[in-house]
Amino acid sequence: MTGGASPWDDDYRRRGNLWGGAPPPLPDLPAGAAVLEVGCGNGKTLAALLRQSSRVTAVDISPRAVALARRHPGTAAISPGVADARHLPFRKGTFDAVFLIHIIGHLPEPGRRAAVSEVCRVLRPGGAAFFRGFSVEDMRAGKGDETEPQTFRRGDGIITHYFTEDETEDLFAPLDPVFLRTHRWQMRVRGRDLPRAEIEAVFKKEVGGFR
Ligand SMILES: C[S@@+](CC[C@H](N)C(=O)[O-])C[C@H]1O[C@@H](n2cnc3c(N)ncnc32)[C@H](O)[C@@H]1O
Repeated sequence: MTGGASPWDDDYRRRGNLWGGAPPPLPDLPAGAAVLEVGCGNGKTLAALLRQSSRVTAVDISPRAVALARRHPGTAAISPGVADARHLPFRKGTFDAVFLIHIIGHLPEPGRRAAVSEVCRVLRPGGAAFFRGFSVEDMRAGKGDETEPQTFRRGDGIITHYFTEDETEDLFAPLDPVFLRTHRWQMRVRGRDLPRAEIEAVFKKEVGGFR
């Protein structure tokens, strides 16, 4: 960590909105669905979620990110807040859908497990978790200092874990997989096409189960 609350907070303070462009494709959600985004950053995905449901909540560990997310129209009513994915400040069974868009991969292994356990707790039976995280096939895997297997720290102090499909399924094992695939595309850098890849997955909480 450097001067601020976390390397993330330092980065948002230095560079403002870190995430722009189009949000990831989102599923159709029932208009009244209770939705949580964990790790909302400056609100790119959050703004799109707000167009789908009037009951959206969002958290991020960086106070600066939360302040940036609050600038989106519609967020005043929902008060995105500062919270750690590993200790979510919500009651059991609060949400119909939880979005984890490139957040879990920024936690070390015990943190990833704690965050998924929290997601399972706050989902209602029948609710779904929507996950995205970079794949081991991504061009950035292997860059930086390896802090744990397939987890790399870059110069800004931020760690990124690169997932396999099997490990993603294992991580979310308390939930039932509905959909899991590797999304691959090319990014052109200085005349060369480089491989980008992320794991996309949807998991459901069993209805009537004890998990
Ligand atoms: C790559 S950004 C994700 C941006 C956002 N989900 C989107 O779709 O634009 C990762 C975010 O996770 C947040 N984050 C990192 N560790 C966290 C934690 N333990 N709890 C909550 N948020 C965390 C960071 O502050 C950062 O805003």
